[in-house]
Amino acid sequence: MFSIHPTSFVAPNAKLGTGVEIGPFTIVHSNVVIGARTKIGAYCEIGVPTPLSNGSSLEIGEDSLIRSHSVFYESSYFGSGLTTGHRATVRENTTAGKGFQIGTLSEIQGSCQVGDYVRFQSNVFVGGKTRIEDFVWILPYAVLTNDPTPPSNDLMGCVIKDYAVISAMAVILPGVEVGLRALVAAHACVSKDVPEHMVVAGVPARVIGDTRKIMKRDASGKPAYPWTTHFHRGYPTEIIEMWQASANCSDYET
Ligand SMILES: CC(C)(COP(=O)(O)OP(=O)(O)OC[C@H]1O[C@@H](n2cnc3c(N)ncnc32)[C@H](O)[C@@H]1OP(=O)(O)O)[C@@H](O)C(=O)NCCC(=O)NCCS
Repeated sequence: MFSIHPTSFVAPNAKLGTGVEIGPFTIVHSNVVIGARTKIGAYCEIGVPTPLSNGSSLEIGEDSLIRSHSVFYESSYFGSGLTTGHRATVRENTTAGKGFQIGTLSEIQGSCQVGDYVRFQSNVFVGGKTRIEDFVWILPYAVLTNDPTPPSNDLMGCVIKDYAVISAMAVILPGVEVGLRALVAAHACVSKDVPEHMVVAGVPARVIGDTRKIMKRDASGKPAYPWTTHFHRGYPTEIIEMWQASANCSDYET
């Protein structure tokens, strides 16, 4: 029914779906529900208990892949198709939709909300109380902060709206909202809200243009944004069809 490596420890009341695989030296705590066919690699700790949890189970959706040395606390929820690189850490009370990808060495603090098909590359840091909507990309070493006057308890999570892209090494300051389909350039420090579709760059970040005016670098003469017109790798067919239908009626707002 499921496959548990002899060197791993799975608490007797953890709930494992059909076909789940648990790798060597991994610990699965009791307050955990793992969906069917999910694979958990070596040296992971799944469902770490914490007094900060709201008491609910850690739920990992079906068909997920958690690579080695990753750590998930209890009371978080992930839809189907969660994928992590190696050494990802996710704290308690965080929820994410379908198809979430978390890159190697990324950390997500507690009480975050993540939409559907969000992708992080490696070394992304997400402060507690951040809200990330659907189809967002967050690229290596980006930092989403939450404490305006550290150290304090006045946490103000960032908000990243649908389809926004946060480039490498960008820093988003506490409480800032990055708008629908906006692009934060590499190494920007974003201290003010970013309007929809705008590109911001620099320290402090300023609007330098409109994403829809950036051209692809492949000499095709086509616009690079919205990226959904030409980048489909790994997305489900029904999502790609939705994007194609939107492109055909020139409606990128949905
Ligand atoms: C924002 C970005 C897409 C460039 O957009 P663009 O409008 O095509 O910009 P251009 O290359 O035509 O440059 C326009 C101007 O902005 C400046 N600029 C471009 N990127 C910048 C950045 N990240 N920070 C500061 N200024 C930048 C350029 O120097 C240029 O200035 P100039 O007019 O004084 O010469 C690009 O810089 C970027 O950040 N890409 C993301 C890279 C990344 O992180 N990839 C993911 C990980 S692999």
